[in-house]
Amino acid sequence: MSESNITRIGVSLPSDLLDKFDRYIEARQYTNRSEAIRDLIRDRLVQQDWEMSANKEVAGTITYVYDHHKRELLDEIVNMQHDYSQHVLAAQHIHLDHHNCLEVAVVRGVPAVLFELTNRLTALKGIKHCKLVMTTTGAELS
Ligand code: NI
Repeated sequence: MSESNITRIGVSLPSDLLDKFDRYIEARQYTNRSEAIRDLIRDRLVQQDWEMSANKEVAGTITYVYDHHKRELLDEIVNMQHDYSQHVLAAQHIHLDHHNCLEVAVVRGVPAVLFELTNRLTALKGIKHCKLVMTTTGAELS
């Protein structure tokens, strides 16, 4: 970020809110408030981007945990990844323990399709937890 593109603003906050915010940024090891505020603003803008962008491509990850002893479930997950092969860019599999596997699928597409895939995965019997994390393709965010 070049200095010439930076605008300084003053923000008025109730002191108890600022105290909480300072504890928040300390816990997250920010070195200054400005970077923490920038990240919060970007996060909200990405969120809004998803909500508003019915036909615009976004990116994200779907993280899910399941019992790998349910053999038919593995096939169902792989089949679903093939059904959405245009949208599933990659998947990483981690063996958490004797029973549980964690997978992260990196996805890209319009929000409705990514929500649909997430909902279909969540509905599979044996998936213990499934969560879509939304990010941005970055094209319109500095
Ligand atoms: Ni595994």
